[in-house]
Amino acid sequence: MSLVIKKVGKSFEDKIVLKDVSFEVGKGEFVSLIGPSGSGKSTLFGMIGGIISPDEGDIIMSNQSILNKRGHMSYMPQQDSLFPWRTVLENVLLGQEISSEVTKDKAIQMLQIAGLKDVINAYPAELSGGMRQRVSFIRALLCPQNLLCLDEPFSALDEFTRIDMQQWLLETWEKYEQSILFITHNIEEALFLSDKIVILSHSPAVVKEVIEIPFARPRDPALMLTDEFLKWKRKVMNLIQSKN
Ligand SMILES: Nc1ncnc2c1ncn2[C@@H]1O[C@H](COP(=O)(O)OP(=O)(O)OP(=O)(O)O)[C@@H](O)[C@H]1O
Ligand SMILES: [Mg+2]
Repeated sequence: MSLVIKKVGKSFEDKIVLKDVSFEVGKGEFVSLIGPSGSGKSTLFGMIGGIISPDEGDIIMSNQSILNKRGHMSYMPQQDSLFPWRTVLENVLLGQEISSEVTKDKAIQMLQIAGLKDVINAYPAELSGGMRQRVSFIRALLCPQNLLCLDEPFSALDEFTRIDMQQWLLETWEKYEQSILFITHNIEEALFLSDKIVILSHSPAVVKEVIEIPFARPRDPALMLTDEFLKWKRKVMNLIQSKN
């Protein structure tokens, strides 16, 4: 699976949101998308998911246009989208209705790792925001698509849980060879996880820069304390703040 975002443009009424946005996600690649609030990141996910039409450009997966076509990616939306009438386990097993690869055992095992063992049979209303975020994340992970799009999956988590979940995401991703497109506002998180970071500008958003991240894998959280890491963090911060 490779994904090509090709010269995509989108306006809502007379507001230009995305302008000539192009970048690629290679097979098995981990790509983060960073950009100011309102720069059109979630809108872009909506386009990849086939629920929003771009005004210009194309979205190509493995050499075929997927414009307005659904079902080519597994998606964790920014807003909590759990079904309130389903328990935690029933929510994460949603993918089972699409594919038999999603097994109950695997779901339970993942819920356990994510610290949700005791709430498997609880309903979303009984969970904290961070717990709901983890359930929704596991549901996306369990969907057997080659592209996983995660819209700020860890934003509601405390620093401890966040680092655990990042580590776990990397381990899971290394095993399953999926490509990941990951939206975050957290520069350290993007650096720690990614092969590549795409930086969007203020609206109308263009791609400011695409940077390749050279850290070897597997990665350990101790990486975040190194001088090399700090050097990269400075570089990304400067790029985000630069005017052009
Ligand atoms: N359906 C819509 N109708 C009108 N305007 C919209 C619609 N969806 C998004 N927008 C506008 O498009 C812009 C981009 O929104 P989007 O949610 O994609 O931003 P974002 O980069 O994901 O921001 P955040 O980091 O805050 O999540 C915003 O100005 C938003 O108000
Ligand atoms: Mg968003």
